[in-house]
Amino acid sequence: MATLVTGGAGYIGSHTVVALHEAGRESVIVDDFSNASYRVIDSLRRLTRQDLKVVEGDVGDEDLLVGVLNRHEVDSVMHFAARKSVSESLVDPIGYYRSNVAATITLAQAAIAAGVQRMVFSSSAVVYGSTSELPVTEDSPTVPESPYGMTKLTGERVVADAAAASATTAVILRYFNPVGAHRSGLIGEAPYGQPDNLVPRILQVAAGERARLEVNGIDYDTVDGSAVRDYVHVMDLALGHVAALDVDLAQLTAQRSRVYNLGSGAGTTVLQAIAAAAEVTGSEIPYAITERRSGDIAASWADCSRARNELGWQAQHDLRQMLADHWHFVLNSVGPAHSTAPVSCSLM
Ligand SMILES: NC(=O)c1ccc[n+]([C@@H]2O[C@H](COP(=O)([O-])OP(=O)(O)OC[C@H]3O[C@@H](n4cnc5c(N)ncnc54)[C@H](O)[C@@H]3O)[C@@H](O)[C@H]2O)c1
Repeated sequence: MATLVTGGAGYIGSHTVVALHEAGRESVIVDDFSNASYRVIDSLRRLTRQDLKVVEGDVGDEDLLVGVLNRHEVDSVMHFAARKSVSESLVDPIGYYRSNVAATITLAQAAIAAGVQRMVFSSSAVVYGSTSELPVTEDSPTVPESPYGMTKLTGERVVADAAAASATTAVILRYFNPVGAHRSGLIGEAPYGQPDNLVPRILQVAAGERARLEVNGIDYDTVDGSAVRDYVHVMDLALGHVAALDVDLAQLTAQRSRVYNLGSGAGTTVLQAIAAAAEVTGSEIPYAITERRSGDIAASWADCSRARNELGWQAQHDLRQMLADHWHFVLNSVGPAHSTAPVSCSLM
């Protein structure tokens, strides 16, 4: 049996495909390559198997999904495919609801019809509001402050309600801030356009691709005034997904779905992250302080005790390792891999 991995050519999905392979499971990727290069598939085939199955297409395309689910023996679905920029979602909220919510409805319906037993949904710490007490637990209030955050919370609701009314079960994973790359340096975070999140932007400065970093707001109520986030290694996240396939929900809850925070459990300020990156890369990271970004919150870090107790999962890598692995990937990327058009590879 295989796992259908939507967005499997993207940052977190690609690392999860490797973790699934290492756990002895097969993946079938569906990706439209709107934010990933075909080059990732070449790398994934080196890291997993040459006949890794990849279908190019939109996860909102019902016929395509039904075809994939009929052709392959799929017992589980991991749904990574989505748009993920808070700032872009403020400009194009309808596009975000279409990509992130409408496609999730289509996928859930097709998965249930195909008898899929477990859906794993990629959610985010952005579903929590800025008023939550820290650390944030799964029971903290959910008050998304951007259209992106609302699409993630609504997606959670879609898969939870769909599971409640069917034979499938759903695990919802709320990631904190993924950083790092596979130790091979072959896959990592390589979005098209300018990255929205901090570490890729810091490392662009370290690599000389950007003159300096913009620190968005230094007037937050935190130790040094910059925003605090909980960074978690992407390979740790990937292992959280493998654990999510195996957890027996019936032993834990009367519900057919369960939410888990995946983070390191520790908070790091932007200025601390800059200092750590300067040390790891051996480069100066010049920065300029700018206005806060709309939709950003002051501080967020996770209580991960539920994932520890029920999934047997705990983040293993510290910030230094995350930055070192991310930097290794940046140095290993040939040319401006982040902005070039895809190079071709065979898909099936
Ligand atoms: N990276 C983060 O900081 C972060 C944090 C919390 C939650 N998440 C969630 O995790 C998931 C994966 O994030 P990521 O960082 O790997 O993003 P990513 O952009 O690197 O990966 C998403 C992949 O999905 C593909 N895709 C997008 N829309 C598609 C569509 N309609 N049909 C088919 N493929 C499509 C893209 O080409 C890309 O390969 C997303 O759902 C995101 O909301 C990400």
